Amino acid sequence: AATRRFKFNVEWKSVTRLCHTKPLLTVNGQYPGPTIAVHEGDNVEIKVTNSISTNTTLHWHGIKQLRTGWADGPAYITQCPIQSGHTYTYKFQVIDQRGTLWWHSHVFWQRASVNGALIIYPRMPYPFKPKPHAEIPPIVFGEWWNGDVDAVEEQMMLGGGGPNVSDAYTINGLPGPLYPCSSSAKHTFVTSVSRGKTYLLRIVNAALNNEMFFAVANHTLTVVEVDAAYTKPFKTSAIMIAPGQTTSVLLTADQVPDDSTGGMFAMSLTPYVTAPIFPFDNSTAVGFLRYTNTTRKTRMMSSQQQPSTFTIPTNFKLHNLPDMLDTQFAMKFSTSLRSLATSKYPCNVPQTFDKRVFVTIGLQLQDCPPNRTCTGYDGKRFFASMNNQSFIRPTAAILQSYYHDLKRPGYTTDFAEKPPAEFDFSGVDPFTLNMNTEFGSKILSVPHGTNLEFVFQNTNFLHMENHPIHLHGHNFFVLGYGFGNFDPNKHPAQYNLVDPVERNTVAVPSGGWAAIRFKADNPGAWFIHCHLEEHTTWGLATAFIVQNGPLPSQSLLPPPHDLPSC
Ligand code: C2O
Repeated sequence: AATRRFKFNVEWKSVTRLCHTKPLLTVNGQYPGPTIAVHEGDNVEIKVTNSISTNTTLHWHGIKQLRTGWADGPAYITQCPIQSGHTYTYKFQVIDQRGTLWWHSHVFWQRASVNGALIIYPRMPYPFKPKPHAEIPPIVFGEWWNGDVDAVEEQMMLGGGGPNVSDAYTINGLPGPLYPCSSSAKHTFVTSVSRGKTYLLRIVNAALNNEMFFAVANHTLTVVEVDAAYTKPFKTSAIMIAPGQTTSVLLTADQVPDDSTGGMFAMSLTPYVTAPIFPFDNSTAVGFLRYTNTTRKTRMMSSQQQPSTFTIPTNFKLHNLPDMLDTQFAMKFSTSLRSLATSKYPCNVPQTFDKRVFVTIGLQLQDCPPNRTCTGYDGKRFFASMNNQSFIRPTAAILQSYYHDLKRPGYTTDFAEKPPAEFDFSGVDPFTLNMNTEFGSKILSVPHGTNLEFVFQNTNFLHMENHPIHLHGHNFFVLGYGFGNFDPNKHPAQYNLVDPVERNTVAVPSGGWAAIRFKADNPGAWFIHCHLEEHTTWGLATAFIVQNGPLPSQSLLPPPHDLPSC
């Protein structure tokens, strides 16, 4: 296998958007960060240098990290942070995955701007048709803050603020013409296509706190892969994508370009919201697909190189974009995703489980600390929990403590396997139930090879938000979703055990549940958390240890010599 080496420098760079110039945390001065492109089977080495005054870590979101948990990246789970002026080289092999993933910082709220796409080119030809003529540069969704993101994080620590506090959504760091000061080609993502050709679009939702809808006016999208696992191709007018998720789609440039818009079709990005309790940002980021009448092969253009020889149209239409409250569309989209499940790409969903862990996930309200102002709700502050534990990351990394068998590891392996409190929220006053959280660092520990099932029950009072739950170290199969309470006597009989979608992040519906299953066969310590950054901050997380198996090939590799210490 080839070894691909990258050098990442975490550094500040001055960036201007929406007429605001501010220092932005970047990798190599790029926003979004550099794309990592590798082939299935490659060894990857990314040398990360911390050139800022605070800690950092990077995470390769969706890479399974088979036996190489040391390279996974979440601070205090698999490693101590890389301190200012220090370097750490992440080393892993890309095994049995192909498609689109991404990478991001995994400490504080740094991932707001420290993120980028990670492409894994397949060993075998694409299993879908038509074979794309070219790829469009990866499309990374994000959020822009005119102010300081650290301040937002601090406000969140006090449990306050609305769920959306950014100033713009962005497509490859660019807000587009519907925002103030960004109606120029310089601040709008534009990509060129030739009429009649088919393109592969690799889409990443790196937004901090919003599930998103994305559509291209007048064009149909064919979903072929999510989270670096192929799906049965299906056609859709738009996609729903949660933070942490990635989606690859085919798009055929089959429209007649309209001269009045310069042959441009709008790509639009807007949040998907389940209940607008708080003043939500319902703004829309816009980019363009630009038909060129030349037949010459479209060159790959990096997101930084924007052609500026044309003007952004003002008379564009946002066709195909669902209403931001369209839960039906979101659910239909999610349930349309199926594993490819062919002999070349079999669907290895475990037919039985060894352990079912039932987890309530939700938000709670706590009294505001004295002499502080909390803006959560009703003068209180928010917290979030899994089975009523708001997770606190230990001050030493769990993986190191576990590996070295340290006496005071800062965590315990007694995470509750079912909710300690009632969770029936249907028709019950939501404020009287499920309001207790305890802070803690309880996690799970399972033997190697355990067929593990998680049922996540979203208990949010006020039916507020979906929770995109992300697992590190494994892909899982989504056996089913539903609204209301999960019923262990009824719902498992309806599970899809034939071709459930395989992924690493599942959007658990507001006021509903999702069931996932996988073989826990990657030794290490793995974070599980909501990929809405504010909810992770509020404690919607835990972790699980997969113990070594009996064979040497089932054991965690020793830590690298340059692993940071706390
Ligand atoms: Cu995308 Cu724990 O991460």
